[in-house]
Amino acid sequence: MSIRAVRGEILYFRGHPEEGSAKASNDGAVVHHDDGILLIDKGSIVAVGPASEVLPQLGPDIALQNYPHSLILPGFIDSHIHLPQVDVIASHGTQLLDWLERYTFPAEQLFADHGHAVATADFFLQQLIQAGTTTAMVFATIHAHAVDAFFRASEALGTRMICGRVMMDTNAPDALCDTAESSYHESRALIERWHGCGRQLYAVTPRFAITSSPQQLGRAGELLDEFPGVYLQTHLSENLGEVEAVRQLHPHSQDYLDVYDQHRLVRRHSVFAHGLHLSAREHACLHEAGAGIAFCPTSNLFLGSGLLDLAKLDEAGVAYGMATDVGGGTSFSMLQTLNEAYKVAQLQGQTLSPLKAFYLATLGNARMLGLEARVGTLEVGTEADFIMLDYHCTDLIRRRVQRCQSLEERLFVLMMLGDDRAVAATWVNGQCVYDRPNASVLGTS
Ligand code: GUN
Ligand code: ZN
Repeated sequence: MSIRAVRGEILYFRGHPEEGSAKASNDGAVVHHDDGILLIDKGSIVAVGPASEVLPQLGPDIALQNYPHSLILPGFIDSHIHLPQVDVIASHGTQLLDWLERYTFPAEQLFADHGHAVATADFFLQQLIQAGTTTAMVFATIHAHAVDAFFRASEALGTRMICGRVMMDTNAPDALCDTAESSYHESRALIERWHGCGRQLYAVTPRFAITSSPQQLGRAGELLDEFPGVYLQTHLSENLGEVEAVRQLHPHSQDYLDVYDQHRLVRRHSVFAHGLHLSAREHACLHEAGAGIAFCPTSNLFLGSGLLDLAKLDEAGVAYGMATDVGGGTSFSMLQTLNEAYKVAQLQGQTLSPLKAFYLATLGNARMLGLEARVGTLEVGTEADFIMLDYHCTDLIRRRVQRCQSLEERLFVLMMLGDDRAVAATWVNGQCVYDRPNASVLGTS
């Protein structure tokens, strides 16, 4: 018997909760059931709705798992994170370029050791799952075996992941430098091995315009031409010192984004991390291409990089989604990331509503990645990746939630006070892969 059923409060999105005429209602952008049931068969969602409607459809042999005082949501999607940086997170005292040299590049060199890459991939995936993140867009290192190790671990867990081998042929330590040719051929072999293999997807990954020569960026563009559907991930306009270095290194480009655009890297399904110091021209270029920005608030604050102006992105029609950017970012938790995102908006006299915040961490990211028919939602026919957030996970959250009178208020409490302790369970491809000890899973009924 492969059909499983879970019962609890259910929330997911069909569209942007603040765009168009779709306001919070069940037939609009927001789907919410106070007491709902999700039915899963062989890794897919086969029914979702109010318990009163779905219960009569359940046969007597279907196990129903109750998650009282929990909110069932699509698994979070993290659109920018670094696998090797679990050992760099919380490193004191520097901004981007010094931080890369002092902490990040040494940590990435350790991945020359295959055993280290394998062990770290497992640890990293566990951290994601415990935080309720079921899909992530991941930078590995320049070592092809680190990408293999990550995809193998993801395949074993059943997660849908996007990952790429970092391309870096200049302005980096010798031990981390490849060449335009070797990076092309190794990336190509990894695409052939992994892209579309089960749930795994590949992203061509030039680190950023400082560490890739024009030749290497050109080879990255060729890979995108040769393999439609493969992603592009890189960094863009994060730190003012970086922006100035890019201006000097690429004098024939009109701005930072143009360095990438000249090599045909700015496309639909290209994800640029940060994008803090962009001009109106760059916004227009991103919009026209249908490319996206990964909003990394904990990293942007931690590294002192700046405040992302969401109002400007909205005005220009640029797609964006939430990302942790561990280890420049300081938490794997998407809830903590939303907490910081709210404060980034506050500092600019803007606001971030709880519904929009949860949208950006689920369907918003899925849409940016063209994956909305598969993940980031709980629509029938999509892949069964979902989480339970427990309103009773801490005494403070439990007490505060008792005073809430709406879904929006409860979501806001979760995103301001919650972290991985709030994740009661994580399901991937229809299987429960994480059940938080002492979480309130009552078992079958
Ligand atoms: N820019 C180039 N590489 C990196 C990195 O590893 N982290 C961050 N935050 N920015 C980068
Ligand atoms: Zn990054």
